[in-house]
Amino acid sequence: FENDERGVWRYNAALPFEEGVSLPEGDTPLHEVPRLEESVGVHRLRIKHEGMNPTGSFKDRGMTVGVRVAEELGVDRLACASTGNTSAALAAYGARAGLETLVLLPEGKVAAGKIAQASLHGARILEVDGNFDSCLDIVQDLAARGEAYLLNSLNPFRLEGQKTIGLEILERFYADEGRYPDRIVLPVGNAGNTAALYKAFRELVASGALHPRDVPKLTGVQAEGAAPMVEAIENDADEVRRWNEVETKATAIRIGNPVNAPKALPGIRETGGTAVSVSDEAITSAQRALAQEGIGVEPASAASVAGLQKLRNQGVVEADEDVVCLTTGHLLKDPDAAFEAGDDPEPVPNDTDAVLRHLEGRSGG
Ligand code: F0G
Repeated sequence: FENDERGVWRYNAALPFEEGVSLPEGDTPLHEVPRLEESVGVHRLRIKHEGMNPTGSFKDRGMTVGVRVAEELGVDRLACASTGNTSAALAAYGARAGLETLVLLPEGKVAAGKIAQASLHGARILEVDGNFDSCLDIVQDLAARGEAYLLNSLNPFRLEGQKTIGLEILERFYADEGRYPDRIVLPVGNAGNTAALYKAFRELVASGALHPRDVPKLTGVQAEGAAPMVEAIENDADEVRRWNEVETKATAIRIGNPVNAPKALPGIRETGGTAVSVSDEAITSAQRALAQEGIGVEPASAASVAGLQKLRNQGVVEADEDVVCLTTGHLLKDPDAAFEAGDDPEPVPNDTDAVLRHLEGRSGG
């Protein structure tokens, strides 16, 4: 994949166009996390931080391709349903392309940073009295009636762009370690990334660039309150049952009907991976553990690390494994969750001596 492009478009041999509507996106860091690696108890742990994309989530990789396709088709209006990040990315890339953008959000369930982005980038924002899955039902109807071009991960061009997460992980990990990771652990909502990474690996194997035994085990993590994929994996089911009631503080993955399940379930099974659910408390403590390594993520992202820890404790993940956890969105996406998980500011008087006394643990004068 050597050429003059940067980020996602360096992989244009695997994409439908030579270049796209770009900010640019991709080329995110693969962090070492020595303390976390030791506390989790695996041979190597790396964090692929997708929060470092231009709008702060992996969605940018999909939008750079998807909005390019929309330009090519000459559509009038772009639309998506979203738990927040997709709407932020679509608003930014739509603005970049000079296209009208419509986003449908579940009322009261989208983190502040994400709505702020969609708003400032000029999307028309509709708040639906329902959850994400209802929003997606409506946007699909709008698209079917020719009212908008759908840019949720049901759009296969989105997933083409998101394949580059997998390509970057394999390339960087191999350059650093001389081998490929045994496992990639990722948060699952609509299972778009799970499907995209699986497609990337299949294409690499088909081209002869990757040996089948080197395909990492795709391991999905959901919140306990929104875990239909985990249910399907545990029950060895062919289809995923839609959950009508979902709840978790990881609002990005507060999803009961993972629309990419038909593409993602085989990805988890064929690679020898698994799926696991984690509590909101475990998500918060993983978010803090990542923050203590200097890596700021939103709650949904921390689910990957929480899931890895749980699977390691259960002995499903072994001590000699090399693991990459995907962190999908930036800390600033959800400032309220960060305040809740972090330490409170301490009020002090406007006086140096008083500040010193406060630091020494004495309160009064
Ligand atoms: N992590 C974050 C931060 C997300 O925003 C999402 C999905 C996921 C994980 C799940 O990824 O769908 O590929 O399994 N967010 C969508 C949105 C639904 O509207 O922003 P997936």
